[in-house]
Amino acid sequence: MQTIGVLTSGGDSPGMNAAIRAVVRSGIFKGCRVMGVKRGYDGLINGQLEEMNLSSVADIIHRGGTMLRTARSEEFITEEGRQKALNVLKVFNVDGMVVIGGDGSFRGAQKLSELGIPTIGVPGTIDNDLEYTDYTIGFDTAVNTVVDAISKIRDTSTSHGRANIIEVMGRHCGDIALYAGLAGGAESIIIPEVGLDMEQVCRKLIKGRNRGKLHSLIILAEGVGGAIELGKEIEEKTGMETRATILGHLQRGGSPTAFDRILASKMGATAVELLLENKGNQVVGVKGNKTFSMDIEEALSLKKQLHEDIYKLTDILSI
Ligand code: F6P
Repeated sequence: MQTIGVLTSGGDSPGMNAAIRAVVRSGIFKGCRVMGVKRGYDGLINGQLEEMNLSSVADIIHRGGTMLRTARSEEFITEEGRQKALNVLKVFNVDGMVVIGGDGSFRGAQKLSELGIPTIGVPGTIDNDLEYTDYTIGFDTAVNTVVDAISKIRDTSTSHGRANIIEVMGRHCGDIALYAGLAGGAESIIIPEVGLDMEQVCRKLIKGRNRGKLHSLIILAEGVGGAIELGKEIEEKTGMETRATILGHLQRGGSPTAFDRILASKMGATAVELLLENKGNQVVGVKGNKTFSMDIEEALSLKKQLHEDIYKLTDILSI
């Protein structure tokens, strides 16, 4: 293994830069040449590769976004697109790749491995929707961003005695809603894994109001429905004045937390080690504070499970 390529793909997440830095610096430390690929798989297809050196990744550990930029590539899904990418990798003499992204990006990594380019996936997504790993890079930062927003909304919720719905990201996975809801002291958390129980949400609001509770915070994961419509329905059913906030892409930016920087640094360095051990078609994960790797297909075949303990605890603590 002499030349390693690195790209970021799919939705960006805070900490991707720290992972790129770890790949570049640990690769160079081990005597490799490292090529940065711009704009994910699209950039790979179009030959947007540049050699990186120690200073290419200076001053980025604390920055959100991804210095390599990213894309959700349609072309790489096609056989033709992948063949173009393979030709580019051959032209630039790239022996192995590190792909930082979520499940879609990992499917691409698997395809690259099948084409003979040993490829390692590093989980970079705010969603934390990959079952094989305890945490993905960016999740902790996104949760902290949401908790900060919840605390601010709590102030105004209390002042006005309103119900406030806060819609967070997570189409299929409610982890952001769940963790931020527990940390933010929310009354109800509505996530795709459980669905919406309108009666229960309203019952809780009325119970809270009857015991003199001034604020009411409902965290809604985007996959279940829209906050504005839900707010209107709650207002009709409970008679409580309701406001909705959609946090949107705010959750994807910002300086990564120390947790995400450390996770990204460890995972990026592990990816390089795996390539140097001639391993490919693997993803890096973390369980019980230890990084490990496993087969991409196996990792993607695991169905994301609900953290039932956290869900139940939030319910108990918000009685
Ligand atoms: O997968 C990360 C994520 O932020 C999801 O939580 C969200 O549903 C989606 O990306 C939004 O994607 P885009 O930025 O392409 O609109």
